[in-house]
Formats: sequence, C-alpha cells, structure tokens
Amino acid sequence: MAIDSYNPRVHAIRFENDTLILLDQRQLPHTESYIEYKNSNAVAQAITDMVVRGAPAIGITAAYAIVLAAQTQAHTSQLNLETAFEELANSRPTAVNLFWALDKMKTALSEHQHLSISEQIDALKQQATLIHENDIRDNQIMGKLGASLIENPCDVYTHCNAGALATGGFGTALGVIRQAMSDNKIQRVYAGETRPWLQGARLTAWELMQDNIPVSLCSEGAAGQLLRQGSVKWIIVGADRISANGDVANKIGTYNLAVLAKHHGIKFMVVAPSSTFDLNLEHGNDIPIEDRPQSEVTSIQGLAIAPDNCHAINPSFDMTPNELIDAIVCEKGILTAPFNIHIQQLLSK
Ligand code: MRU
Repeated sequence: MAIDSYNPRVHAIRFENDTLILLDQRQLPHTESYIEYKNSNAVAQAITDMVVRGAPAIGITAAYAIVLAAQTQAHTSQLNLETAFEELANSRPTAVNLFWALDKMKTALSEHQHLSISEQIDALKQQATLIHENDIRDNQIMGKLGASLIENPCDVYTHCNAGALATGGFGTALGVIRQAMSDNKIQRVYAGETRPWLQGARLTAWELMQDNIPVSLCSEGAAGQLLRQGSVKWIIVGADRISANGDVANKIGTYNLAVLAKHHGIKFMVVAPSSTFDLNLEHGNDIPIEDRPQSEVTSIQGLAIAPDNCHAINPSFDMTPNELIDAIVCEKGILTAPFNIHIQQLLSK
C-alpha cells in the first residue's frame, strides 16, 4: 500500500455542494449509509448521537457545521452564530478537538467581520476545509513518526477506533499501524472490541479489513491472556484530551490496557495531533469525562442484555496517567518523559 497516496473508498466526512455528508457510523459494519446535513443543530445532535465520533472527526464536523449555520443566514445583514457555537460546544464534553476547532472558526469569523456576508461564509468554509486537510496531513506525519518507534516485526494491540473514521482520514493510532504495516513491521493487529459501543469490532476491524491488514478481534476480557503471551510488543491508541503533564483521556478501557502493558513490559504509545492537547489543564483528573446513557450498557443494538431496571455505569472515557505511557506521538514530534517539560517545549514551537 502506498501510504502517501492513501485514498480510502469510504469517507466519514465530506462537504459537497454546501452540504455536510456524514457516514452514519452507527450502522457499520453492515450498512454504509450517509446522512446529509444543511443546518448546524442537526449536526450537533449527530455528534451527540455518535453518527460521527472520534476526537479529530468531531472537531472537523463541528467546523463544517459552523459553515452550515452561516449559510442559513446568507441573506441577513449580519451573521449571528452564537447559538450554533453553543449547541456544538454542548454536543460532547471530552474531546478537546471540538473546542479547538470551534475556537479556530470563531477566530476566522472575527478576522473577516469587515467583509460581506458571502465573503465571510467563504472564509469560514476555507477555515473548515483547512482544519480537515491539515488533520489528514498531520495523521500521515504521525504515522511515520510512530512507525519509527517500532523496531522489529511484532504484533500490536489497539483500542476503540482511532482510524480514518475517527479523523479527517488515515487515522492517528491506525495511521501508525498503516505506516508500520507498509514498512513490514507489523504481523498482526489485535483490535479490542471496546464495550459498550463496540468501536473496535464494528469500526476498527472493518477499517483494517478494507485495507487487507491482518486483524483479530479481542474481547476486552481476553486482553490480559493475550498480552501475557508475548507476541504483542506495542499497544497503540488515540486520545481525546491530553493535559499539560501528559495524562491521557481516551476511550474507556484504555487505562486497563496501560496497566496491563506496564505489568507485562509492553510499550504503550498514544498518537494524537496537537489539537488534542489541553495545556489549560495541569492534570488528567481535571479532564471532563462524558457519562453516557445506562441503556448503552444494558442493551446491545436495542436488545436488552441485563434485567429490566438494572443500574449500570457508563463513563465513556478514562484517564491514563502519564507514568504508564512510553511515547506520545504528535505531528510536531515524539514526546517522552518527563512529559510536562517536553510537551511545553514541543507545543510552543
Ligand atoms: O466515543 P468515541 O467513539 O468518540 O471515542 C473515540 C475515542 O476514544 C478515540 O480513541 C479517540 O477519539 C481518538 S480518535 C483518533
């Protein structure tokens, strides 16, 4: 596979003819269906409902949603996008890429306020497209950086879906895996199934199989038994928010894997663009963790798997402390301990 010209058949996010087109990820792997959006409040709901998910993909989608909001006001004398910004900011709390992208759109808006409405809309469209294109470029840079850390051919383990579906295209963790695969450094990828949404089973296994990358699905409970056998040398995951000291919020279950990795001497790599860092937060404990409905745990695709009225907890993310992480790969370079110092240095470049 020629990585530099990676061109997936399926695109999670497209903006065409003034319309945002999202692949409905809730329907994968069995149905590839798309939903078209013309207004931003429907997009905010789509983010909450996980039509589109994954930290960078959420940010890109929100940026395009601001364009949609502006387009609906094309015939007014002044754009008023406050409600759109607010609804989008409230769509999901943990992935900081959402707030980063909305800030970029706010800046683009204020920098072009002296122009005509149609020129302001064009400027917003350009900014959203740039966020999207830069994300793909950064994924490819991170792919090369992350793959350079893998020394000998081995098996790797990934969690949730941090692939083309979760980003502008190519992927963070799966970007590294795609690159390392093409460098012949990976024999097999184990995809953790990722309860309760099953992003690993429904999305990662599907995405890797589209590229003919050998993948085995691993139920969460089987991870320990797999990791003690020794063929997996790296666990490679994405991130939703990274605090200034290098603590990482990512999909629930990531922390369990990091603890297992430490116990078994397996290296732990986090791959995330600089838009995932939140330097306003000193520690990971300050990262807001989304709680999702109990029904996502007590049922699977509408089928109840627990007694009626059974109470369940459903934190959607967990926090992995920096001492369990060997490397954080971002497009600006590879970060290692002491993370607080290295993050400050690298991100201020
Ligand atoms: O709830 P999701 O599916 O949006 O969670 C996604 C993850 O946790 C990903 O691992 C993370 O966003 C990194 S995606 C490049």
